[in-house]
Amino acid sequence: MAGNITLTMIKPDAVAAGHSGKIIDLIIQSGFKIQAMKLSRLSKEKAEEFYAIHKERGFFNDLIKFMTEGPIIAAVLEKDNAVEDFRKLIGATNPANAADGTIRKLYAIDIERNAVHGSDSDENANIEASFHFSGLERF
Ligand code: RTP
Ligand code: MG
Repeated sequence: MAGNITLTMIKPDAVAAGHSGKIIDLIIQSGFKIQAMKLSRLSKEKAEEFYAIHKERGFFNDLIKFMTEGPIIAAVLEKDNAVEDFRKLIGATNPANAADGTIRKLYAIDIERNAVHGSDSDENANIEASFHFSGLERF
């Protein structure tokens, strides 16, 4: 059975542009319940840890620079089938390929500055929720 939590980050581009409120509203109106939320700024070390899976990719250094340039909003979201449903709500990595009405179609700038993160599996949702929030027993 699919898990019922996912982890999102509103990325520095969207926070700086003032889109956080609209994005949070869209998330809630789409049926997700916010279990935990915080504004923070990732250190270089924490950003490298979060995106460690991409460390061999050509875009890694740019990604770390982007993700540490300003505050992010991290949140744990609850819904049946959370991971898959949230990936649908955020849309494709490249906003040029994102479906109408998705968060990335509405607010992303390009393939890197793409407004939001969403976990890609139940396992990673739990790892990422623990990464940003303590007290995991609540999840
Ligand atoms: P995310 O992990 O942030 O939810 O994004 P995703 O699954 O849709 O995409 P992923 O392949 O995991 O890539 C992580 C983030 O790296 C940046 N990126 N830049 N310049 C590029 O070609 C490129 N490709 C990816 C994006 O910020 C992407 O969301
Ligand atoms: Mg990803």
